[in-house]
Amino acid sequence: MATNILLTLIITALNFLCIAFAFDPSPLQDFCVADLTSTARVNGLACKDPSTVKADDFFFRGLHLPGNTTNPLGAALTPVNVNRVPGLNTLGLTIARLDLAANGFIPPHTHPRATEILTVLQGSLEVGFVTTGPTYTQFSKVLEKGDVFVIPIGLLHYQRNVDNGNTVVLAAVNSQNAGIIAVTNGVFGVEPQINSDYLARAFQLDKKTIQELQAKF
Ligand SMILES: *[C@@H]1O[C@H](CO)[C@@H](O)[C@H](O)[C@H]1NC(C)=O
Repeated sequence: MATNILLTLIITALNFLCIAFAFDPSPLQDFCVADLTSTARVNGLACKDPSTVKADDFFFRGLHLPGNTTNPLGAALTPVNVNRVPGLNTLGLTIARLDLAANGFIPPHTHPRATEILTVLQGSLEVGFVTTGPTYTQFSKVLEKGDVFVIPIGLLHYQRNVDNGNTVVLAAVNSQNAGIIAVTNGVFGVEPQINSDYLARAFQLDKKTIQELQAKF
């Protein structure tokens, strides 16, 4: 009986630790504006001297401007993260604009450090995420202007414009540096390359197809 209670306590403590460390750590000061020139190695970025902090450290102008979607994806992501707004350092937030031309898309990817929430400002968007294995269940929606969708932390997801016009999306993530792992580049665009015989077996494709994919990414 006592063992069961102890086990429950340990599991509860472990769950608590997971929750506490699954997001950017909470700040212990009003702000820690990133000193982008510091070479100090810390979790996040070193703080600037607070006496030198200006309103511009918390400011970015231009998210009303469309990104350039003239590229093979027909997509442009404009992230406003800690590199553009140093005042975001330690605050666990990023905002981004996503432009998608007709048929534009973002390939399947994950953000290892953040949950994402997005809203469509213009056009329409198919968005979907996949649960972890072994079930790999897909949850997807076609969003219209004003719709909001949430992508839980770490889960594989994708976005694509299923309309003929341009789509504009405003997204936020709860990390100053959410990180991105695209399935395509994260498997086929790796330096040094992952062994192609092994990938051929893993994907149940011939080695030539794998090498073509490796050349593309
Ligand atoms: C958009 O990107 C394309 C391809 O890189 C380039 O040729 C074009 O000049 C860019 N357009 C603008 C308005 O910057």
